[in-house]
Amino acid sequence: MDQPIKIAVVGSGYVGLVAAVCFAEIGHQVTCVDNDQTKVDALRGGDTLIHEEHLPELLNRYRNDRVVFSTDLGEATRQADAIFIAVGTPQSETGDADLSYVEAVANEIARHLDSYKVIVEKSTVPVYTNEWVRRTIERNGVDRQLFDVVSNPEFLREGSAVEDFLHPDRIVVGADSSRAAEVLSAIYKPLTGGSYYTRQNAIGGRLDDQSPAPLLLTSTKSAEIIKHASNAFLAMKISFINAVANLCEAADANVEQVARGIGLDSRIGPKFLRPGVGYGGSCFPKDVAAFRSVAEQLGVDFSLLSEVEKINVEQKKRFLRKVRSALWTLRGKRIGVLGLAFKGETDDIRESPALDLIEMLMGEGCSICAFDPAAMDRSRAVLPESGALQYAPDAYTAAENADALLILTDWAEFASLDLKRLKQTLRYPILLDGRNLYDPEAVASAGLSYVSVGRPAAH
Ligand code: UGA
Repeated sequence: MDQPIKIAVVGSGYVGLVAAVCFAEIGHQVTCVDNDQTKVDALRGGDTLIHEEHLPELLNRYRNDRVVFSTDLGEATRQADAIFIAVGTPQSETGDADLSYVEAVANEIARHLDSYKVIVEKSTVPVYTNEWVRRTIERNGVDRQLFDVVSNPEFLREGSAVEDFLHPDRIVVGADSSRAAEVLSAIYKPLTGGSYYTRQNAIGGRLDDQSPAPLLLTSTKSAEIIKHASNAFLAMKISFINAVANLCEAADANVEQVARGIGLDSRIGPKFLRPGVGYGGSCFPKDVAAFRSVAEQLGVDFSLLSEVEKINVEQKKRFLRKVRSALWTLRGKRIGVLGLAFKGETDDIRESPALDLIEMLMGEGCSICAFDPAAMDRSRAVLPESGALQYAPDAYTAAENADALLILTDWAEFASLDLKRLKQTLRYPILLDGRNLYDPEAVASAGLSYVSVGRPAAH
């Protein structure tokens, strides 16, 4: 890389913080802005605030040096060549993305634009947001020559966010001006084939082989649609395999064999074909709803997305029915629950199917004893401990005297439990696995009855 670029990242949530430290890792000088002073203080002190592999290491490597944290958006704007907007775009009641934070940031940036800058949409936003950001800045009286707005969506997954950022399948830059496209290409040059400005210890196992990522230049609107379409497609894949799993249950077939059989077709691919209790998290539910709403507003029939959502909701109810049919009645039953996070290796509980199921079970009169390796604090904050809900220090305590044990999150450590010990701990030896972490034969030979998703019971 020729020169480090001065970057401001607005928002220190998942995407903002990971982008900020990773931009530093590839050599740039970054100011990460958040209007929450407590957060800024924590980050300056080295507390990442979220559970994410490699993030503490990178934060400690660059904080107060190549990455500084600040509440002063004006100052960060004046100093930067490129300003990445990575604030939240929560779901509004209609399903649309609520863009009021993006608008507020655009207004604030506009007040401090004194030389040419590229303003980058990093948050997931609906098509046309780019135009609105541009208009918002112009309405503040800013000369059109002083800025460009580009769309540069992020495709990182929680749990592997740093790896995903540094080893992307692709980098998408939606720019309607070549000047802005050049700035973005320079920023990403270390990932697309250029050398790192200064690299200390490589992060992640794959960094050394450094195969360059393709940079796809598109129009701004195409880039905005790429992000929504990618997430909607992945969600569709999950709902599809969940529907196939239900069919396998009805036909006494095995969804794992089916998923392998279809996934080996390179046009389909093996990933995101794991059936379970439905998708959750801060992205898929919100983005499918937002994309559906975009289609509606543009007069396009995309009811396929409503079906994707319907299957996802139904998948949780179906699992509840499985618990009911394993236990006959639910009132007064004690249920051990393993997993609170929306997926393994994260402490994020947003839109977690596990929490929905816990609430459904409590609604049916069950008492719950739950354990998660990382998400207990966050869970306690929304579902406080009560007579009906307890939190256990480990998986075996959660199972103690339970009428059944449920696996609701695919944590790696839940896949290697001591099944014989569980059998002795449970009041009734029933394991309901919503993530298919076990071989049915192995569970059966440990003496537990086993219910999973889309697979026949062991004989
Ligand atoms: C998702 C996308 O995978 C990222 O590419 C995207 O950048 C991100 O959203 C975003 O828009 O910010 P994430 O929400 O972190 O990432 O989680 P995923 O790993 O995609 O999992 C989402 C949900 O689908 C989880 O509840 C997971 O358990 C479920 N899932 C995933 C399945 O049920 N089956 C699968 O085969 C895969």
